[in-house]
Amino acid sequence: MKVTGTEHKISDFSGDVLVVGIYEDGLSPPADQLDNLIGGSITRLRESEDITGKPNEVTTILAPSGFAVTRIYVVGLGKKEDLNQQRAYEAAATAAVALSAKKVAKAAFYLDDFWPSELMEQAIAGAASAVNGQDIYRKEKKQNPPGEIIWNGATADVLEKGIALGNAISLTRSLVNRCANDIYPATFAEEAAVVAENNDLNIEVWDKAKLTEENCGSLLAVARGSVKDPRLVIVRYNGGKKGDPPLALVGKGVTFDSGGYSLKPSDGMITMKADMAGAATVLGAIKAISSLKLPVNVVALCGLVENMVSGDSYKLGDILTSRSGKTIEVLNTDAEGRLVLADVLNVALDEKPMAIVDLATLTGACVVALGTDTAGLMTNEPDWCHEIEQAALTTGEKMWQLPMYPEFGDQVKSQIADVKNVGDGRWGGAITAAKFLEEFIDDTPWTHIDIAGPSFAEKPKPYCGGGATGFAVRTLVELARRQATR
Ligand code: BES
Ligand code: MN
Ligand code: ZN
Repeated sequence: MKVTGTEHKISDFSGDVLVVGIYEDGLSPPADQLDNLIGGSITRLRESEDITGKPNEVTTILAPSGFAVTRIYVVGLGKKEDLNQQRAYEAAATAAVALSAKKVAKAAFYLDDFWPSELMEQAIAGAASAVNGQDIYRKEKKQNPPGEIIWNGATADVLEKGIALGNAISLTRSLVNRCANDIYPATFAEEAAVVAENNDLNIEVWDKAKLTEENCGSLLAVARGSVKDPRLVIVRYNGGKKGDPPLALVGKGVTFDSGGYSLKPSDGMITMKADMAGAATVLGAIKAISSLKLPVNVVALCGLVENMVSGDSYKLGDILTSRSGKTIEVLNTDAEGRLVLADVLNVALDEKPMAIVDLATLTGACVVALGTDTAGLMTNEPDWCHEIEQAALTTGEKMWQLPMYPEFGDQVKSQIADVKNVGDGRWGGAITAAKFLEEFIDDTPWTHIDIAGPSFAEKPKPYCGGGATGFAVRTLVELARRQATR
């Protein structure tokens, strides 16, 4: 897909499809200009309430004969006062999804005239990453990204940034959508090596032997049931001052979660190829941060294992010794993500980070608490969590903090080991999981983001086909931007 900017008036465009934006409370200037050129069709469709301008509504209008374009897509932008990064991202993505349903050679986006560069960047990223759904394995593709997209009023700089962000989101989505027979620890690590190579990033890959040498007994226990060996991938980006402590991004990368001996029922297992979304998200984020050349040091750590059943799997009642030295009683082999993270967080501490964020599809309980579209935030340091909340408010990705009262921590104390890997019952399961993680953090500011709900959409949305969403890449990039300007 070729993407360029233009300063030309809407009347100068010739191609297949023109995309214009419309607010609930009025036409954008380009929509207004176009309306005049086509004899007021948009205004009439508004009067008849066929077009409302509500977010993510797309209406196709056939252009009058002799007009230099064939079709016009009018896309809803919501209320003017509610316009934010998320709306811009979704509106462009909605239009791109609609465009990809047909074979379109050339389309132009005239969403509005005067969007600030942050909104343009999000819109460009939305269009660039929208068509990244579940077509990967189809011989005959159902989605056809347009051959060429032209953006009204986009400078070279904003185009470059938007595309960089969009490509990173696409990477995350595609890694998550790829199946477990395709993406497993070794192949994920290979993909990470490609990303590192193309973006001039430093990469270190720990294989099973190195993990053993490093005493990662908790991660290795989970991995033991699989014929696919585990990996720990460490990617470093040094855009900041030499010696400045990095921001550490830690991702859960369970490439398939069968539950182990605490086996999941089929229904719950079906989407478990997506249990590596945390790892895919931190890889996407560091790719974007480096493409954007943000002046900040970042390290991304991905803990990659497959949680399977075999004669050598870890068992209920086993006691594991984690890299930190703390011992863990295993009372449920399906609470494997926290066991992987226990060791990866400990490795992250070796990087002497200024702060840690981990992303993990950690608990069904978080989805029960907050629904499928909102991530849970849990922290040992309210100020650090607040920065993440602020970043999320800027991008419009939904994140909400859950309490970390000490009483929840009592539930992960064990009779025979230092900690146990589940709470006393189901209640508050997202929080008891976070309390377990906190045991492996020491005093570094840390926030855990449970993305079990928003990372994967079981049903398609107008702006995103079903499957991986790329959730949180934009917020992590925003977070890195904020660190850079501190
Ligand atoms: N990967 C799952 C959590 C999950 C559930 C992610 C649904 C996405 C959608 C995790 O490893 C898990 O199985 N958690 C258990 C924890 C329990 C055994 C304490 C859960 O949520 O049931
Ligand atoms: Mn599990
Ligand atoms: Zn899991």
